[in-house]
Amino acid sequence: MTVQSPVNTANRTGEFSFSDKDFQRIADIANARYGLFLQPSKKALVYSRLAKRLRALTLPSFEAYCALLDRPEGEDEQSHLLSALTTNVTHFFREMHHFDYLKTKIAPDLIKRAKAGEEIRLWSSACSAGQEAYCLAAVLLAAAPDAARHNIKVLATDIDGKVVAQARAGRYPADQLNAIPADWRKVLLAPTRRGDDLEISAELRKLVTFGELNLIGQWPMKRKFDVIFCRNAAIYFDKTTQARLWKRFAEVLRPGGHLMIGHSERLSGPAEAQFRSTGITTYQKLADGPDPAPNREGSKA
Ligand SMILES: C[S@@+](CC[C@H](N)C(=O)[O-])C[C@H]1O[C@@H](n2cnc3c(N)ncnc32)[C@H](O)[C@@H]1O
Repeated sequence: MTVQSPVNTANRTGEFSFSDKDFQRIADIANARYGLFLQPSKKALVYSRLAKRLRALTLPSFEAYCALLDRPEGEDEQSHLLSALTTNVTHFFREMHHFDYLKTKIAPDLIKRAKAGEEIRLWSSACSAGQEAYCLAAVLLAAAPDAARHNIKVLATDIDGKVVAQARAGRYPADQLNAIPADWRKVLLAPTRRGDDLEISAELRKLVTFGELNLIGQWPMKRKFDVIFCRNAAIYFDKTTQARLWKRFAEVLRPGGHLMIGHSERLSGPAEAQFRSTGITTYQKLADGPDPAPNREGSKA
């Protein structure tokens, strides 16, 4: 057995000066731009995640890093900042209960409506490298092998352009196969492989459209959604940003539509009144309320 000697991190942690003011500047940028919530207790974590960026950019200090973020040429660095402070960790059929719920409780009605000519829209709104979106599409395809002939689409977005590009490529390292239950492999994957990588089947890829989108920015989509997955992203946001996000999801879901959130996330704020809980971190939007009652003065007139 080899016992590795502990890594000496003393130089690393003292490598760059990192004042409370630098930390606050980074926390403010991350909050204004991405809704991230960084408490002062996260200072050491922020140091260790960003020290790599300072080295890569050969910057002498966090003060210089903050100055770069403030300059127009620091625009690109802001997305590295986000990637350093959040994680893209995901896998096929993560939190399987949501896919079971989709399959048994939601998909039959979606397929019926699609066959009747309705437009069906699902949104994987923090899709990372795309596994979640392809699993949504796989559940629909399993329920209706002719799904592509109907007006069914999965929109998959993430703020991080790098993961969106991976998602769009639809290729994954072979070791991700273990995460895919045997029954789902033939729905998800192309029957033949080039090299060792797993490849998403062409039929599934036709159902999914990828794009970059910041959840706390503008949403250009005009159509209402039947199902929204927003899992394990809002956890990084402050409470106000989370409450605003749930409210915005309620606005873009059709009445009766479904919202799935991550295992450690909870609905909060005004949106709570617009949803009913239907399972573990699974919510259904209630019918839109009646139009506001006419005021008495108005009704007398
Ligand atoms: C942990 S992954 C979750 C992936 C997948 N939803 C899941 O549950 O497995 C979190 C994702 O949220 C994305 N993200 C973080 N902040 C975001 C924001 N403001 N807008 C859109 N996506 C964001 C990250 O880029 C990352 O890919």
